[in-house]
Amino acid sequence: MTKQTNLGGSFALPGAAPTLKRMGYGAMQLAGPQVWGPPRDIDGAIAVLREAVAAGVTHIDTSDFYGPHVTNQIIKRAIHPYPDDLVIVTKVGARRGEDKSWIHALSRQQLTDAVHDNLRNLGLDALDVVNLRVGGVMRPTEGSIEEPLTVLAELKQQGLIRHLGLSNVSPAQLREAQTITEIVCVQNLYNLAQRSDDGFINDLAEQGIAYVPFFPLGGFSPLQSSALDAAAAALQATPMQVALAWLLQRAPNILLIPGTSSIEHLRENLKAATLEIPFELMAELELIGGGVRQS
Ligand SMILES: NC(=O)c1ccc[n+]([C@@H]2O[C@H](COP(=O)([O-])OP(=O)(O)OC[C@H]3O[C@@H](n4cnc5c(N)ncnc54)[C@H](OP(=O)(O)O)[C@@H]3O)[C@@H](O)[C@H]2O)c1
Repeated sequence: MTKQTNLGGSFALPGAAPTLKRMGYGAMQLAGPQVWGPPRDIDGAIAVLREAVAAGVTHIDTSDFYGPHVTNQIIKRAIHPYPDDLVIVTKVGARRGEDKSWIHALSRQQLTDAVHDNLRNLGLDALDVVNLRVGGVMRPTEGSIEEPLTVLAELKQQGLIRHLGLSNVSPAQLREAQTITEIVCVQNLYNLAQRSDDGFINDLAEQGIAYVPFFPLGGFSPLQSSALDAAAAALQATPMQVALAWLLQRAPNILLIPGTSSIEHLRENLKAATLEIPFELMAELELIGGGVRQS
């Protein structure tokens, strides 16, 4: 595949952090069913990663608890040694139960082990960006994050982590975090239908902090809406492309990490960066998340 120059333009993370193409790739779907164990088609997973990098993607989102370990091992096998401009963003703060559940893992030892697991399985000496994942999946849980974030700030001081982000957090938790260390990105649930973070995104944009929505396509239950279908038909695009293009147009600090295990879906998703949604259609799409139509 030839390198795509237009991946939604670029966004410079704050401070001394790198600049990323706005259209990235989320690697969670590369593990087996329920994000557990190896995938059915490991060669297919490797091909998806290689295609993403060949297309110019510079932002891959992952975690060592995908698989567990499996997704990072596939990333290393597929694209290590990594291109200079590739930024791998990982997350810590959870572990998987034997029943495939997602359990908080926020003690000093668990966080330290998680950072070392990521380093080993990705084959890196330092992690570019690590998100501290707290809260619930559907929404943040208020409460102090000082203890776990202090552990990661210490690991950053030691040179094992270059930059820190947060996942599943509230604006109050971001404010607390910023008294401890610099935060370059926030990763929360957000898409056309899940709009709780509208105000938060605007605040982050003013501060120059990236907002990286997870489940941009709806996650395990992909978005379905007649308004989305109608917009897609009008634009001669697919509904998933419209959902991604809407996010890119929603705010300049939104960076995308759609997840897929399919090369066809990857190509379709990357092309969404070239789709322009006219103002009137953006207003129609606002209604999906219960927004007010602008006239
Ligand atoms: N911080 C957190 O707590 C958290 C939670 C969840 C996810 N994440 C991150 O966010 C990333 C994105 O989330 P996600 O992968 O769960 O959800 P997503 O990107 O919203 O959607 C992925 C789902 O959509 C399907 N899909 C992708 N492209 C498609 C297309 N063009 N047409 C039709 N279906 C398509 C995928 O299936 P196929 O494989 O068949 O394409 C998969 O089932 C993950 O990779 C992960 O890195 C973070």
